[in-house]
Amino acid sequence: MAKAKKDNGHYISRQEERAITKYNRKTTKEFEAKKRKKNVSEDTYMATMKDSKNIVEFDDLHTYFFTDAGTVKAVDGVTFSIPANSTVGVVGESGCGKSVTSLSLMQLVQAPQGQIVSGSIRYNDGEKCYDIAKMPIDAMRKIRGKDIAMIFQEPMTSLNPVFTVGYQLDEVTTLHNPGATKEAAKKKSIEMLKQVGIARPEGVYDNYPHELSGGMRQRVMIAMALVCNPKLIIADEPTTALDVTIQAQILDLLRSVREKINGSIMLITHDLGVVAEMADFVVVMYAGRIIEMGTAKEIFLTPKHPYTVGLMKSKPVVNKKVDRLYSIPGQVPNPINMPQTCYFKDRCDRCHTACEGPYPSVRKFSDTHLVSCYLYNDTKHQENESTEVVKDE
Ligand SMILES: Nc1ncnc2c1ncn2[C@@H]1O[C@H](COP(=O)(O)OP(=O)(O)OP(=O)(O)O)[C@@H](O)[C@H]1O
Ligand code: SF4
Ligand SMILES: [Mg+2]
Repeated sequence: MAKAKKDNGHYISRQEERAITKYNRKTTKEFEAKKRKKNVSEDTYMATMKDSKNIVEFDDLHTYFFTDAGTVKAVDGVTFSIPANSTVGVVGESGCGKSVTSLSLMQLVQAPQGQIVSGSIRYNDGEKCYDIAKMPIDAMRKIRGKDIAMIFQEPMTSLNPVFTVGYQLDEVTTLHNPGATKEAAKKKSIEMLKQVGIARPEGVYDNYPHELSGGMRQRVMIAMALVCNPKLIIADEPTTALDVTIQAQILDLLRSVREKINGSIMLITHDLGVVAEMADFVVVMYAGRIIEMGTAKEIFLTPKHPYTVGLMKSKPVVNKKVDRLYSIPGQVPNPINMPQTCYFKDRCDRCHTACEGPYPSVRKFSDTHLVSCYLYNDTKHQENESTEVVKDE
């Protein structure tokens, strides 16, 4: 039995297991102690934005999970910005770190095993700039849900099934406005339900989540995100669980919400159609890293990275008949033992000798369009001579 286990690459001996557990306990304890420190001076987590027009700047963010099988580098050096009044789409296949990036921004990564290990998440509240990666839990509570709100991937599991919609909406108002009376909170909640297009807001206020349809629950989640007039809404797959007509309504609603709050949206999705319709900027992630980013136009009209090109090819096109939709062959590498080379190498149809080298550096095609791939590193394969190295990973 032990032999069979050893032959399989995931085998861990009892001794290794004990060493991993000991290391995880020590490491996570240190991170937790830092986060739970009381009376931390604001100066320790103040920062300066690189560009004052941005509301959020992720800078070389690393978020890891210290699991019994080893360290999962869920987010491994992610750098991108969310400009004010814009929608940034984050795309990539399942498990590439989209949700963990957004949960890091909310300081909601599942602790103690999940921790922001290094890097910064600068947040600009209009007056001051904070580094959320360094913020203690107490300070973060004042921002979370108020300045930055989140619409979660699955509304049924995000709403509490034992409390009414009204109770859960009121709670957000009273938590962030301690002076608010019960009546004022109820009035605000009903107004928000009305704003997100719920036809009988007073009735829904008294309903439990299971009494509502999927589309209505998603609207309630959006209403909850809107209660405190946030500057940034993170929408994690807001339309995945919905049928196409309801999807279109929710996207329209999100667009009008962005105008209403005059803020930004970080839109996480698998659906390239949704990104094309909604996003100003697109970030493409693969196995915990950004492999390409640019304006929506740059990504959709001139995708550079073979993975982005594959994603575009796998998208159905109206009026184009195909026997079978394209799918990118192979699988994402094991997140515990990532290779030192390009993570996409084993699946890439344009892999060449240079790709055996270390992880490719980032190349710049324009101020906004960045790609990480050896195709644009090697003069033989270079497709655009104006590329320029900006950063070595
Ligand atoms: N609580 C956890 N413990 C251990 N590993 C985790 C945990 N949460 C996420 N991960 C790992 O982190 C990586 C990134 O996960 P994440 O949820 O960010 O993926 P995603 O891009 O949002 O995928 P999806 O599109 O399916 O939602 C995955 O390898 C996942 O297994
Ligand atoms: S670096 Fe090489 S293997 Fe990786 S995506 Fe580019 S061409 Fe493919
Ligand atoms: Mg996710």
